[in-house]
Amino acid sequence: MTLSKKVFVKSYGCQMNVYDSARMAEILAPLGYRPVDAPDSADLIILNTCHIREKAAEKVYSDLGRLKPIKSERGARIAVAGCVAQAEGEEVLRRAPYVDMVFGPQTYHRLPEMVARVERGAGAVLDTEFPPEPKFDHLPAAEGMSPVSAFLTIQEGCDKFCTFCVVPYTRGAEYSRDVAAVEAEARSLVARGAVELTLLGQNVNAYHGRDDGGAVIGLGELLRRLARIEGLARLRYTTSHPRDADEALIAVHADEPKVMPFLHLPVQSGSDRILAAMNRDHTAKDYRQLVGRLRRARADLALSSDFIVGFPGESEADFAATLELIRDLHFASAFSFKYSPRPGTPAASLDHQVPEPVKDERLQVLQALLREQQDAFNRQSLGRVLPVLFEKPGRHPGQIVGRTPYLHAVHAEAPESWIGTVRDIRLVALGGNSLAGEPITDPERISA
Ligand code: 5AD
Ligand code: SF4
Repeated sequence: MTLSKKVFVKSYGCQMNVYDSARMAEILAPLGYRPVDAPDSADLIILNTCHIREKAAEKVYSDLGRLKPIKSERGARIAVAGCVAQAEGEEVLRRAPYVDMVFGPQTYHRLPEMVARVERGAGAVLDTEFPPEPKFDHLPAAEGMSPVSAFLTIQEGCDKFCTFCVVPYTRGAEYSRDVAAVEAEARSLVARGAVELTLLGQNVNAYHGRDDGGAVIGLGELLRRLARIEGLARLRYTTSHPRDADEALIAVHADEPKVMPFLHLPVQSGSDRILAAMNRDHTAKDYRQLVGRLRRARADLALSSDFIVGFPGESEADFAATLELIRDLHFASAFSFKYSPRPGTPAASLDHQVPEPVKDERLQVLQALLREQQDAFNRQSLGRVLPVLFEKPGRHPGQIVGRTPYLHAVHAEAPESWIGTVRDIRLVALGGNSLAGEPITDPERISA
């Protein structure tokens, strides 16, 4: 079939959205749509949005404003998908009446019908249901090459109800895909060239999928089963809740070398008072002990985390406790945010909201400490030999780029035939966003 129409999908926010965006592009291929990487020439523009913080949500409205002329000049169709669509569907159509389709993360498998309706001129579509049929049962099997490092959604939604977070409202109740469906998708990705899989879920270690025998298995066992796939070299998972890291998951870090020694395990705060107000259901000590157990299981494990500063009621002492936890545990990387009150979440209506300038200052102090730790971690990798999975050609001729187990980007002079393979690389210099590496064996000899 000729793909005569063009679709541009822009992802905001988390990796789940990146995965969903790729699936949307795949669903549209049978309708004649080919993905393009800019909106200017597209016939259909999909903004796959994020509602996690106010800034992310507002960005969508400013982008829509910029797209309006493309719509009026060329008649391109515009769709708003994802969590802003789910949370504020009607509001999107009110603020941007030229939008043609608004649909949430759970209904994009219905895209063909929605597009057909809009193409018939039957008016704007709003679909923010949580449908009874899981969308995964209705997504077509993917075709074509997959990237060397591919995402695979295994779990969606969240039942944790942290008091700051919109996810339980926008993504809905927790849902785990069946083991057979996950395995089939994993095998298909590997058959099409993936060497690394990152299992995705809003709360991925809450995974409890049913296998063919009817047994319910957790993430630890799922990782073990996926690790048996030949040709698959690396497994990762994100993002996790400390409460759901069980013995089986810790054990798989100890004895399954395909599971990478790098873990994103958000703690949010180091203060027990704030953790309780956030409804995180664990203390700072629980988190420290969990990190201890993980590091005993895998001595070279590095950690990453999310932090929120300025949660309602956060005192100087609470903030100091967060800094202390960071100093004690050391993080190889981290994301940190000022608390952003989200409509409909319990924390938004709490008293003692922290003034903006105080949040600003705390964020600066926190980020300086985290940057110091990240720099130290990167410096400490210099001179070391680490396995690098090469993913694609680099910016300069003769160069290829890949990642270490710790997700450092590495560029090296090496043959393109190394793409899709893991090689031992000595890290020799720190650049702006990547490390320079040198093969420890002669590339000519190996590729011959
Ligand atoms: N304000 C600030 N940060 C938030 N996060 C989630 N909700 C909010 C909010 N209302 C952060 C948390 C979470 C990450 C994905 O986004 O740190 O782990
Ligand atoms: Fe949100 Fe994560 Fe808490 Fe779930 S566990 S409510 S996704 S922060």
